[in-house]
Amino acid sequence: MSVKALGFLSLATSARQEWTEFAGNTLGMQVGAETTPGVTRVRLDDRSFRLEITDAEEEAVSRIGWEVSDAAALERVVERLEADGLTVERCGADEAAASEVLGLVRATDRSGFRLEFFYGQRKSVEPFISPRSAKFVTGDLGLGHAVLLTPVFDEMIRFYTEVLGFRVSDTMKMGPSRVTFLRCNARHHSVAFVEAPVTGLHHFMVEATEVDMVGRAFDGCRDRGTGIMMDLGRHSNDEMFSFYAVTPSGFGLEYGHGGVLVDDAAWTVTEIAGPSLWGHRMATA
Ligand SMILES: [Fe+2]
Repeated sequence: MSVKALGFLSLATSARQEWTEFAGNTLGMQVGAETTPGVTRVRLDDRSFRLEITDAEEEAVSRIGWEVSDAAALERVVERLEADGLTVERCGADEAAASEVLGLVRATDRSGFRLEFFYGQRKSVEPFISPRSAKFVTGDLGLGHAVLLTPVFDEMIRFYTEVLGFRVSDTMKMGPSRVTFLRCNARHHSVAFVEAPVTGLHHFMVEATEVDMVGRAFDGCRDRGTGIMMDLGRHSNDEMFSFYAVTPSGFGLEYGHGGVLVDDAAWTVTEIAGPSLWGHRMATA
Protein backbone atom coordinates (compact mmCIF):
# COMPACT_ATOMS: atom_id res chain seq x y z
CA MET A 1 0.00 0.00 0.00
CA SER A 2 1.52 3.31 -1.01
CA VAL A 3 -0.36 5.91 1.05
CA LYS A 4 0.12 5.35 4.79
CA ALA A 5 -2.11 7.92 6.47
CA LEU A 6 -4.04 11.14 6.25
CA GLY A 7 -1.23 13.43 7.36
CA PHE A 8 -2.70 16.90 7.38
CA LEU A 9 -5.54 19.06 6.11
CA SER A 10 -5.20 22.65 5.01
CA LEU A 11 -8.35 24.72 5.24
CA ALA A 12 -8.79 28.04 3.48
CA THR A 13 -11.28 30.23 5.30
CA SER A 14 -12.58 33.73 5.82
CA ALA A 15 -12.97 32.89 9.52
CA ARG A 16 -9.44 32.04 10.69
CA GLN A 17 -9.90 33.71 14.06
CA GLU A 18 -13.08 31.73 14.74
CA TRP A 19 -11.29 28.58 13.60
CA THR A 20 -8.39 29.05 16.00
CA GLU A 21 -10.80 29.63 18.88
CA PHE A 22 -12.83 26.57 17.88
CA ALA A 23 -9.79 24.30 17.41
CA GLY A 24 -8.12 25.35 20.65
CA ASN A 25 -10.62 26.23 23.30
CA THR A 26 -13.49 24.03 22.13
CA LEU A 27 -11.77 20.98 20.65
CA GLY A 28 -8.59 20.97 22.72
CA MET A 29 -6.06 21.22 19.90
CA GLN A 30 -2.83 23.19 20.26
CA VAL A 31 -2.95 26.35 18.16
CA GLY A 32 0.47 27.59 17.09
CA ALA A 33 1.72 31.11 16.65
CA GLU A 34 1.08 32.86 13.33
CA THR A 35 4.64 32.52 12.04
CA THR A 36 3.56 33.20 8.46
CA PRO A 37 1.04 36.05 8.04
CA GLY A 38 -2.45 34.66 7.46
CA VAL A 39 -1.53 31.09 8.37
CA THR A 40 -2.22 29.27 11.63
CA ARG A 41 -0.96 25.75 12.18
CA VAL A 42 -2.55 23.45 14.70
CA ARG A 43 -1.05 20.47 16.47
CA LEU A 44 -2.84 17.33 17.62
CA ASP A 45 0.22 15.28 18.53
CA ASP A 46 3.99 15.27 18.14
CA ARG A 47 3.88 16.30 14.46
CA SER A 48 4.62 19.93 13.74
CA PHE A 49 1.05 20.37 12.53
CA ARG A 50 -2.00 18.38 11.51
CA LEU A 51 -4.30 21.24 10.53
CA GLU A 52 -3.44 24.42 8.72
CA ILE A 53 -5.87 27.33 8.66
CA THR A 54 -5.19 29.94 5.99
CA ASP A 55 -6.84 33.25 5.17
CA ALA A 56 -9.02 33.23 2.07
CA GLU A 57 -12.20 34.83 0.83
CA GLU A 58 -14.06 31.55 0.43
CA GLU A 59 -14.22 28.33 2.40
CA ALA A 60 -12.33 25.40 0.88
CA VAL A 61 -10.12 22.42 1.60
CA SER A 62 -7.00 23.74 -0.03
CA ARG A 63 -4.76 20.71 0.58
CA ILE A 64 -5.37 17.11 1.57
CA GLY A 65 -2.00 15.81 2.76
CA TRP A 66 -1.38 12.08 2.29
CA GLU A 67 1.68 10.64 4.00
CA VAL A 68 3.97 8.05 2.46
CA SER A 69 6.86 6.31 4.16
CA ASP A 70 9.93 7.67 2.40
CA ALA A 71 11.42 9.21 -0.74
CA ALA A 72 11.20 5.97 -2.73
CA ALA A 73 7.52 5.58 -1.83
CA LEU A 74 6.88 9.17 -2.90
CA GLU A 75 8.53 8.44 -6.25
CA ARG A 76 6.30 5.38 -6.71
CA VAL A 77 3.23 7.53 -6.05
CA VAL A 78 4.41 10.04 -8.66
CA GLU A 79 4.84 7.23 -11.21
CA ARG A 80 1.38 5.87 -10.52
CA LEU A 81 -0.27 9.30 -10.70
CA GLU A 82 1.43 10.08 -14.00
CA ALA A 83 0.60 6.64 -15.39
CA ASP A 84 -3.03 7.39 -14.57
CA GLY A 85 -2.83 10.60 -16.60
CA LEU A 86 -2.62 13.15 -13.81
CA THR A 87 -0.25 16.09 -13.88
CA VAL A 88 2.11 15.98 -10.92
CA GLU A 89 3.87 19.06 -9.60
CA ARG A 90 7.08 18.26 -7.79
CA CYS A 91 7.63 20.88 -5.11
CA GLY A 92 11.14 22.17 -4.52
CA ALA A 93 13.05 21.94 -1.28
CA ASP A 94 11.94 25.41 -0.16
CA GLU A 95 8.28 24.62 -0.68
CA ALA A 96 8.63 21.29 1.11
CA ALA A 97 10.39 23.01 4.00
CA ALA A 98 7.59 25.58 4.19
CA SER A 99 5.21 22.66 4.72
CA GLU A 100 7.64 21.16 7.26
CA VAL A 101 8.22 18.00 5.22
CA LEU A 102 11.22 16.57 3.37
CA GLY A 103 9.49 15.74 0.11
CA LEU A 104 6.24 17.04 -1.38
CA VAL A 105 4.32 16.61 -4.64
CA ARG A 106 0.92 17.90 -5.77
CA ALA A 107 -1.83 16.62 -8.00
CA THR A 108 -5.52 17.32 -8.43
CA ASP A 109 -7.86 14.35 -8.58
CA ARG A 110 -10.76 14.14 -11.02
CA SER A 111 -13.19 15.56 -8.46
CA GLY A 112 -10.97 18.61 -8.17
CA PHE A 113 -9.60 17.86 -4.69
CA ARG A 114 -6.09 19.22 -4.30
CA LEU A 115 -3.97 16.35 -3.08
CA GLU A 116 -0.49 16.56 -1.69
CA PHE A 117 1.72 13.57 -1.03
CA PHE A 118 4.63 13.91 1.33
CA TYR A 119 7.18 12.10 3.44
CA GLY A 120 9.33 13.21 6.35
CA GLN A 121 7.00 15.49 8.28
CA ARG A 122 8.78 17.31 11.07
CA LYS A 123 8.30 15.80 14.50
CA SER A 124 8.37 18.31 17.33
CA VAL A 125 10.48 17.81 20.42
CA GLU A 126 8.18 20.11 22.39
CA PRO A 127 5.35 18.23 24.10
CA PHE A 128 1.85 18.51 22.69
CA ILE A 129 -0.06 20.65 25.15
CA SER A 130 -3.83 20.75 24.87
CA PRO A 131 -5.71 23.69 26.37
CA ARG A 132 -8.43 21.20 27.38
CA SER A 133 -6.24 18.22 28.39
CA ALA A 134 -7.22 16.37 25.24
CA LYS A 135 -5.15 13.68 23.55
CA PHE A 136 -5.82 12.41 20.08
CA VAL A 137 -5.52 9.00 18.44
CA THR A 138 -3.03 9.63 15.62
CA GLY A 139 0.40 8.03 15.04
CA ASP A 140 0.28 5.36 12.32
CA LEU A 141 -3.47 5.98 12.01
CA GLY A 142 -2.93 9.58 10.89
CA LEU A 143 -4.96 12.68 11.63
CA GLY A 144 -8.37 11.05 11.32
CA HIS A 145 -10.65 10.83 8.32
CA ALA A 146 -12.21 13.02 5.68
CA VAL A 147 -15.59 12.40 4.10
CA LEU A 148 -15.78 13.91 0.63
CA LEU A 149 -18.72 14.63 -1.64
CA THR A 150 -18.20 13.84 -5.31
CA PRO A 151 -20.24 13.73 -8.49
CA VAL A 152 -17.72 11.27 -10.01
CA PHE A 153 -18.11 8.59 -7.37
CA ASP A 154 -17.03 5.53 -9.36
CA GLU A 155 -13.95 7.33 -10.62
CA MET A 156 -12.95 8.27 -7.06
CA ILE A 157 -13.26 4.68 -5.83
CA ARG A 158 -11.23 3.44 -8.80
CA PHE A 159 -8.54 6.05 -8.31
CA TYR A 160 -8.15 5.66 -4.56
CA THR A 161 -8.08 1.84 -4.72
CA GLU A 162 -6.24 1.11 -7.95
CA VAL A 163 -3.84 4.07 -8.08
CA LEU A 164 -3.32 5.01 -4.43
CA GLY A 165 -3.70 1.53 -2.94
CA PHE A 166 -6.61 2.10 -0.54
CA ARG A 167 -8.86 -0.82 0.42
CA VAL A 168 -12.63 -0.75 0.72
CA SER A 169 -13.77 -1.27 4.34
CA ASP A 170 -17.50 -1.19 3.68
CA THR A 171 -20.26 0.56 1.82
CA MET A 172 -23.73 1.93 2.51
CA LYS A 173 -26.54 3.85 0.91
CA MET A 174 -27.73 7.14 2.34
CA GLY A 175 -30.98 7.83 0.54
CA PRO A 176 -30.18 7.60 -3.16
CA SER A 177 -26.45 8.22 -2.60
CA ARG A 178 -23.79 5.54 -2.44
CA VAL A 179 -21.10 5.86 0.23
CA THR A 180 -17.83 3.90 0.27
CA PHE A 181 -15.35 3.88 3.15
CA LEU A 182 -11.67 3.41 2.31
CA ARG A 183 -8.69 2.63 4.50
CA CYS A 184 -4.95 2.93 4.09
CA ASN A 185 -4.01 1.75 7.60
CA ALA A 186 -5.80 0.11 10.53
CA ARG A 187 -8.17 3.05 10.96
CA HIS A 188 -11.50 1.87 9.52
CA HIS A 189 -11.48 4.71 7.02
CA SER A 190 -9.13 7.57 6.32
CA VAL A 191 -11.40 8.77 3.53
CA ALA A 192 -14.97 8.09 2.45
CA PHE A 193 -16.77 9.22 -0.67
CA VAL A 194 -20.42 10.20 -0.85
CA GLU A 195 -22.11 10.29 -4.25
CA ALA A 196 -23.44 13.84 -4.57
CA PRO A 197 -24.22 16.50 -7.17
CA VAL A 198 -21.44 18.72 -5.79
CA THR A 199 -17.77 18.39 -4.83
CA GLY A 200 -16.73 19.27 -1.30
CA LEU A 201 -15.79 18.28 2.21
CA HIS A 202 -18.74 16.94 4.21
CA HIS A 203 -16.73 16.60 7.41
CA PHE A 204 -13.45 15.51 8.84
CA MET A 205 -13.00 13.49 11.99
CA VAL A 206 -10.57 13.57 14.87
CA GLU A 207 -10.52 10.89 17.54
CA ALA A 208 -9.91 11.56 21.23
CA THR A 209 -8.23 8.97 23.43
CA GLU A 210 -10.87 9.33 26.15
CA VAL A 211 -14.62 9.15 25.91
CA ASP A 212 -15.00 12.00 28.38
CA MET A 213 -13.19 14.34 26.00
CA VAL A 214 -16.02 13.84 23.51
CA GLY A 215 -18.45 14.96 26.19
CA ARG A 216 -16.27 17.91 27.13
CA ALA A 217 -15.99 19.01 23.50
CA PHE A 218 -19.75 18.61 23.13
CA ASP A 219 -20.25 20.79 26.23
CA GLY A 220 -17.70 23.25 24.83
CA CYS A 221 -19.71 23.60 21.63
CA ARG A 222 -22.89 24.16 23.60
CA ASP A 223 -21.22 26.66 25.96
CA ARG A 224 -19.71 28.68 23.11
CA GLY A 225 -22.72 28.62 20.83
CA THR A 226 -21.09 26.38 18.22
CA GLY A 227 -23.72 24.75 16.04
CA ILE A 228 -24.27 21.01 16.43
CA MET A 229 -24.75 19.29 13.09
CA MET A 230 -25.52 15.87 14.55
CA ASP A 231 -26.05 14.84 18.15
CA LEU A 232 -24.07 12.19 19.99
CA GLY A 233 -24.35 8.71 18.53
CA ARG A 234 -22.41 5.60 17.56
CA HIS A 235 -21.61 4.77 13.98
CA SER A 236 -22.51 1.34 12.68
CA ASN A 237 -19.36 0.62 10.70
CA ASP A 238 -16.35 2.03 12.57
CA GLU A 239 -18.25 2.01 15.91
CA MET A 240 -17.13 5.59 16.54
CA PHE A 241 -18.94 7.30 19.41
CA SER A 242 -19.12 10.89 18.24
CA PHE A 243 -20.96 14.08 17.53
CA TYR A 244 -20.67 16.53 14.65
CA ALA A 245 -20.07 20.24 15.16
CA VAL A 246 -20.61 22.92 12.55
CA THR A 247 -17.18 24.42 11.86
CA PRO A 248 -16.65 28.13 11.18
CA SER A 249 -16.36 27.13 7.49
CA GLY A 250 -19.81 25.51 7.55
CA PHE A 251 -18.81 21.90 6.97
CA GLY A 252 -18.79 19.32 9.77
CA LEU A 253 -16.19 18.30 12.33
CA GLU A 254 -16.76 14.86 13.80
CA TYR A 255 -15.30 14.47 17.26
CA GLY A 256 -15.16 10.86 18.29
CA HIS A 257 -13.75 8.12 20.42
CA GLY A 258 -13.45 4.35 20.23
CA GLY A 259 -13.19 3.62 16.51
CA VAL A 260 -12.44 0.01 15.56
CA LEU A 261 -9.12 -1.06 14.13
CA VAL A 262 -9.20 -3.18 11.01
CA ASP A 263 -7.14 -6.35 10.66
CA ASP A 264 -6.62 -6.65 6.91
CA ALA A 265 -6.31 -10.44 7.04
CA ALA A 266 -9.59 -10.90 8.87
CA TRP A 267 -11.73 -8.11 7.42
CA THR A 268 -14.71 -8.79 5.17
CA VAL A 269 -16.47 -6.03 3.27
CA THR A 270 -20.15 -5.60 4.12
CA GLU A 271 -22.95 -3.34 2.92
CA ILE A 272 -24.15 -1.56 6.07
CA ALA A 273 -27.88 -0.81 6.30
CA GLY A 274 -27.47 2.62 7.90
CA PRO A 275 -24.84 4.98 9.28
CA SER A 276 -25.52 4.74 13.03
CA LEU A 277 -26.51 2.21 15.68
CA TRP A 278 -28.18 4.99 17.63
CA GLY A 279 -28.10 8.78 17.83
CA HIS A 280 -26.40 11.08 15.33
CA ARG A 281 -29.74 12.75 14.85
CA MET A 282 -29.70 15.99 12.94
CA ALA A 283 -29.71 18.72 15.53
CA THR A 284 -32.73 20.99 15.41
CA ALA A 285 -31.34 23.91 17.41
FE1 LIG B 1 -17.01 10.49 9.94
